[in-house]
Amino acid sequence: MSWLEATVLENRHWTEALFSLRVQAPKVAFEAGQFVRLALDIGGERVARPFSFVNAPEDPVLEFYGIVVPEGPLSPRLEKLAAGERLYVASNPAGFLVLSEVPDAETLWLVSTGTGIAPYLSILRTEAPWKRFRNVVLVHAVRHAKELVYREVIGKIPDLKYVTFVSREPHAPSLAGRIPAAIRDGRLEAAAGMALDAASSHVMLCGNPQMLRDAAAALAERGMRKHRRRNPGHITVESFW
Ligand SMILES: Cc1cc2nc3c(=O)[nH]c(=O)nc-3n(C[C@H](O)[C@H](O)[C@H](O)COP(=O)(O)OP(=O)(O)OC[C@H]3O[C@@H](n4cnc5c(N)ncnc54)[C@H](O)[C@@H]3O)c2cc1C
Ligand SMILES: NC(=O)c1ccc[n+]([C@@H]2O[C@H](COP(=O)([O-])OP(=O)(O)OC[C@H]3O[C@@H](n4cnc5c(N)ncnc54)[C@H](OP(=O)(O)O)[C@@H]3O)[C@@H](O)[C@H]2O)c1
Repeated sequence: MSWLEATVLENRHWTEALFSLRVQAPKVAFEAGQFVRLALDIGGERVARPFSFVNAPEDPVLEFYGIVVPEGPLSPRLEKLAAGERLYVASNPAGFLVLSEVPDAETLWLVSTGTGIAPYLSILRTEAPWKRFRNVVLVHAVRHAKELVYREVIGKIPDLKYVTFVSREPHAPSLAGRIPAAIRDGRLEAAAGMALDAASSHVMLCGNPQMLRDAAAALAERGMRKHRRRNPGHITVESFW
């Protein structure tokens, strides 16, 4: 692994805490859904954290979507980067939240909380989902409606079913509450207009680790289990912390 020098082209702020960095860097090969470590030198040390690619693999400009964790060492500094400033990108993208690891199914569910939507935006910018699955559903759960980011991009994706949750204020037609409860009581299926079961579905889960556990437990009640290469199943997960 080596570090590649990158330059910020744009740092878009969606809210006071949410930002998207577009950076110019030497080409790195990755599969949509993977992540790479971003780093800054802070107090004489290189501080690195994984970030999922938001851009499609063939896009020469790299894009990352982040949130400020106020007490964290890296994210508040990434949020402040301006056009022309430097950061480092690791040369070795990695990760298994990729469609090449997902078995065939009728419906692909891309389920996220918060910044966990990032890898799905990359996946949805490729042709693979549309070639392999009859239905594709993107689920994004956030605290506040203003955190429903990338709606322009999402709105232009033909045939995508987009279901949102806003948990801390009323925001119809977004669903209220949390994803696991809506799996259990059928509201998620009703909102998507699709069956969510072992016979038809593969579910990718990304974001808050507690959501991953709670959603996997709700899916287990429907006979769905984690996917492993040697023991195929219906759920693929990536935890952000
Ligand atoms: C595989 C992988 C991919 C990731 N991709 C992204 C991404 O695309 N965008 C992104 O913003 N972060 C992503 N993260 C998290 C990211 O690596 C950092 O942890 C995050 O940016 C905070 O960094 P920090 O140094 O400020 O604080 P840290 O010391 O890394 O984190 C402190 C705490 O902040 C909380 N936290 C961390 N990340 C998040 C988050 N994304 N949303 C809400 N709370 C969080 C957790 O409670 C964590 O314990 C990813 C993590 C992993 C493991
Ligand atoms: N100004 C700032 O700097 C600022 C502002 C906001 C946030 N932050 C940072 O960002 C962090 C939060 O980020 P976030 O809002 O993107 O992530 P989050 O806390 O994971 O919340 C995102 C969505 O996931 C839901 N969720 C949480 N736990 C769940 C579970 N067990 N099962 C199902 N759903 C679950 C939340 O619902 P609930 O609402 O029901 O929990 C919410 O709808 C904070 O800890 C803070 O550090 C910073």
